[in-house]
Amino acid sequence: MKSQAAFIALTLVSSVTAFWRMPCRSQTGKARIDPIIDPGEISGHVHTIHGGGGFGFDATYETLTAQDSCTSCEVTQDHSAYWTPTLHFLYTNGTAVMVEQVGGMLAYYLYYLTNVTAFPKGFQMVAGNPNLRDFTGPFPDVQLSDWPTVPTDQFFLQQRALGFNCLNYAKDPEPSLYRHVFPTQEYMDANCLDGLRLELAFPSCGNGDVTSPDGKSHVAYPSLVKEGNCPEGYDTHYPFMFFETIWNTYAFAGDDGQFVLSMGDPTGCGYHGDFMMGWESKEFLQQALDTCTNESGEISDCDLFTIQSDAVGAECTFDMPDVLADDNVEGPRTGLPVGVPIQYGPDNATAYAVAGRSGVATSSVSESSAPSTWSDRPTVSYTAANPSVTSTALGGIIVDVATGHRTSVTSSSTLSTSSSSITAAPSSDSAADSPDIVTTSYITQGNEVIEMAIVEVEVTVTATPTAAAKHRRHLQKHLHHAGRR
Ligand SMILES: *[C@@H]1O[C@H](CO)[C@@H](O)[C@H](O)[C@H]1NC(C)=O
Ligand SMILES: *[C@@H]1O[C@H](CO)[C@@H](O)[C@H](O)[C@H]1NC(C)=O
Ligand SMILES: *[C@@H]1O[C@H](CO)[C@@H](O)[C@H](O)[C@H]1NC(C)=O
Ligand SMILES: *[C@@H]1O[C@H](CO)[C@@H](O)[C@H](O)[C@H]1NC(C)=O
Repeated sequence: MKSQAAFIALTLVSSVTAFWRMPCRSQTGKARIDPIIDPGEISGHVHTIHGGGGFGFDATYETLTAQDSCTSCEVTQDHSAYWTPTLHFLYTNGTAVMVEQVGGMLAYYLYYLTNVTAFPKGFQMVAGNPNLRDFTGPFPDVQLSDWPTVPTDQFFLQQRALGFNCLNYAKDPEPSLYRHVFPTQEYMDANCLDGLRLELAFPSCGNGDVTSPDGKSHVAYPSLVKEGNCPEGYDTHYPFMFFETIWNTYAFAGDDGQFVLSMGDPTGCGYHGDFMMGWESKEFLQQALDTCTNESGEISDCDLFTIQSDAVGAECTFDMPDVLADDNVEGPRTGLPVGVPIQYGPDNATAYAVAGRSGVATSSVSESSAPSTWSDRPTVSYTAANPSVTSTALGGIIVDVATGHRTSVTSSSTLSTSSSSITAAPSSDSAADSPDIVTTSYITQGNEVIEMAIVEVEVTVTATPTAAAKHRRHLQKHLHHAGRR
């Protein structure tokens, strides 16, 4: 056994001024609630919800930031609500179970545009389209330099704002936003031994309004999804928000069935997410954007933030409405919760009756069978790709292979096993000087939850490129036994 340090990837961090990652390790709940799309009524599908405990059918800035409200995120000044659909495994016999979500959610606040302004009170937005079932673009994406510089085709950008990252910590990591549809189950069984990371990039250009009827039209993607030019009329620059959730898909390896997002999407193309601003104030968030500029991205490196433990965050849950009490979202249950039909595409999904809404029986399950072409979907080989071409977000990892060069280092460092300090810096005695954790991931191995910390190590660039010498860093993985279940 050589060492615990697995592989190194190179990254470019020069394009982003600063950022932080908001860890929200626990859900406030999993329920058919979506106060942006379906205010006041039962949502069409289940979401996994993080952040402010003042969440519910009628959540607003006021309910999220009310005096006695809580948050499941680590920064107590952030009561924002962050939600995405849940992932389920549907056995061929019709039984559905929710896939285990590992490590909660990371919500990245990154600054790529200039003059970034804080989300105002009442701001909310949706990214993605739950009805999409088809991705028609090439795989991998064409080079960013060939993308249109004028972002008039928001549909093009929206489809590329989704990522399904096949996790295999023993191999080089895939870049963020690399693949925009689910890998096939055969592919996941063979390659994604540590699960699947669902990634979602939000639009960061705005027209100045805090919301819009569809939750979307007041915001737009810049020309390269995370950066580039904003469309005309969208001159307000917000932080670039990026969600990551990890799902233990490998627990179903070899099982007969398929993965389906809660809105009946077996393709992944309909993945989406919502954000409702719940920071203490716009001014506070602006101050954080202006001053929390440490490249580590660690919330602990921002003096403004008051940090609470994950144990305290885990106590924060919203009040489950009585009408959802019998949903049994986790399963095992017959079909998706509740009665959501599977729609395979490639046509857009169509509306279905939402169980529990007035006049709709809770047992109206209409299953559709898999098309015979299901197994003919194109598979992609596992490759650590060329992110300088394909990656459009500084998510967990960006690999820069523009250098065409990979290095691996050895390190015998082990992280301390204090379960209360899961984001603690590694006690590294390797040659690496002052490594900073860039991101952490959680995986389940047997009975143990393992935190994988990606640390940043300064390295000397020997071959200096012409003009502006780029600031390159190494990423290095460490394993951390974060706790037992
Ligand atoms: C369907 O198969 C799964 C996995 O084998 C099993 O756990 C579940 O009980 C089965 N459901 C029914 C209704 O037989
Ligand atoms: C920065 O953004 C704010 C708010 O959108 C705007 O009022 C201001 O004019 C912008 N400043 C510059 C220099 O673009
Ligand atoms: C930035 O973060 C690093 C690593 O966490 C820390 O050592 C350093 O003191 C921070 N710098 C500032 C200016 O806060
Ligand atoms: C699905 O809906 C989107 C947005 O309304 C539209 O742009 C797209 O063309 C539709 N796709 C299909 C296959 O109909």
